[in-house]
Amino acid sequence: MKRMVRDCLRSTTSIDDVDLVDSMILEIKNLHVCAEDKEIIKGIDLKIADGEFHVLMGPNGSGKTTLGKAIMGYPKLKVTQGDILVDGKSILELKTDERAKLGIFLQFQNPVEIDGIGFVNFINASHGAINGPTKDVKKFLSEIKERSQRLHMKDGIQKRSLNQGFSGGEKKKAEILQMGMLRPKFAILDEPDSGLDIDAIKVVAENVNEIAKENGTGLLVITHYSRILNYMKPQFVHIMSSGKIIAEGDSSIIKTLEEKGYEAFVNEG
Ligand SMILES: Nc1ncnc2c1ncn2[C@@H]1O[C@H](COP(=O)(O)OP(=O)(O)OP(=O)(O)O)[C@@H](O)[C@H]1O
Ligand SMILES: [Mg+2]
Repeated sequence: MKRMVRDCLRSTTSIDDVDLVDSMILEIKNLHVCAEDKEIIKGIDLKIADGEFHVLMGPNGSGKTTLGKAIMGYPKLKVTQGDILVDGKSILELKTDERAKLGIFLQFQNPVEIDGIGFVNFINASHGAINGPTKDVKKFLSEIKERSQRLHMKDGIQKRSLNQGFSGGEKKKAEILQMGMLRPKFAILDEPDSGLDIDAIKVVAENVNEIAKENGTGLLVITHYSRILNYMKPQFVHIMSSGKIIAEGDSSIIKTLEEKGYEAFVNEG
């Protein structure tokens, strides 16, 4: 996978000197991002190595989703300062699909419903765009089925249009199913737990853990709640407020957060 990503970096950036370091790193350096001329991200630094697990928390409207979208190259956002790098090379000039080819995956906070695009066809198209045409369709379909079962998704849901009429929880599971099929090197999961019932949180967390382990995925999980972290063990926790990281640490920081709320960090920051 690393070799593939590096080949892709070479071909998309015309750069030959991609360093052969042991681990791949997604690095955000002094990132400033504007939406409609309003600065939302105001100088963020973050480094995620493959296999690492980071959590990002912060009050509503602090810019967490915007950060995820900026990493993925959402066209309505403008990076005004700073850089986003994979293995030391800037990806700012790359389009969203090119970033996906590098192995970056974004799970949407609010997945959209697209009538007329079959769920399985969508996964097949994304998978094909990243890895080339599916050679063994039968194997591909049986992997989708197996992953759906692992996620406790209802039988038959795969035959529907993308997210069309899916419940809130089913949409989140559908995103994790896509993550499993696409085998990303870096995954930004934007509130994978919101709208999920207690059992589903556990199932989703276990599936994410498994997928990350299988692929050495570096994870950035955005969440408001510590419940999901009963089943996932982050190494790094970042607290964001008003477009900046105001506190960082290990998971012990979450206990302080639950006891004192964001205000304690905002005042310190
Ligand atoms: N395209 C846009 N145009 C104008 N403002 C925007 C745009 N996109 C985001 N914003 C604003 O940027 C701020 C940060 O939004 P964002 O969705 O990143 O927050 P968040 O931290 O993910 O919040 P939540 O926890 O509620 O999901 C909000 O005030 C939002 O209204
Ligand atoms: Mg958000």
